[in-house]
Amino acid sequence: MVRTAVNTNLDQVTLDELSVRDKGRLERYLRRSDTWMALALSQRTDLSQFAQKILRNGVAAIAIHANGTDVGMVAFYCNDLSHGRAYITHLAVDPEYRRCGLGKKLTEFAMRYSQSRGMNSIALEVGRSNESARRLYASCGFVESETQIGGINSLTSIWMSCPLSQNTE
Ligand SMILES: CC(C)(COP(=O)(O)OP(=O)(O)OC[C@H]1O[C@@H](n2cnc3c(N)ncnc32)[C@H](O)[C@@H]1OP(=O)(O)O)[C@@H](O)C(=O)NCCC(=O)NCCS
Repeated sequence: MVRTAVNTNLDQVTLDELSVRDKGRLERYLRRSDTWMALALSQRTDLSQFAQKILRNGVAAIAIHANGTDVGMVAFYCNDLSHGRAYITHLAVDPEYRRCGLGKKLTEFAMRYSQSRGMNSIALEVGRSNESARRLYASCGFVESETQIGGINSLTSIWMSCPLSQNTE
């Protein structure tokens, strides 16, 4: 069977927010998506520990297609109450399901969720050469940030951030 991304209807995709009991599912998706990243996550960190850390301290949501396939994932932290800043640490969409708005759906989920938890802004690090991701984030309202959050390699990466408006009523 050949699946094509153009036929993917986002109505057929739902997001599952994972709990600590879903560590195996998250780890499986991380292993599957590892080769899709320009710099494999497994080269930087242990995937099992990464999954555990996310599920304990952050939020992970997996997009599941009506055909039962896990096709996308976003992981983020919204626990920095002192700065009110959320941070997207991982986003990966199955290559067969790209350019259908799924990356945007996952990013907007992280934005809405973080906003509902009282975060004032959301940030991330993205590779300078990762044009598709940079365009996606820009389309969600992210701009290249002046604020350096930690010691990133500015030759290879940039920070992008987006304010999250809070309802003050
Ligand atoms: C980056 C990534 C998540 C985008 O996922 P996606 O589901 O294809 O993105 P969307 O369909 O929601 O795209 C939204 C917008 O982003 C931009 N965009 C996404 N992919 C693009 C591409 N290959 N070329 C140009 N623009 C692109 C477009 O503006 C697009 O809107 P449009 O389709 O209406 O033109 C996906 O390519 C991916 O998983 N890449 C590998 C992992 C990665 O780099 N993750 C980001 C780490 S920071």
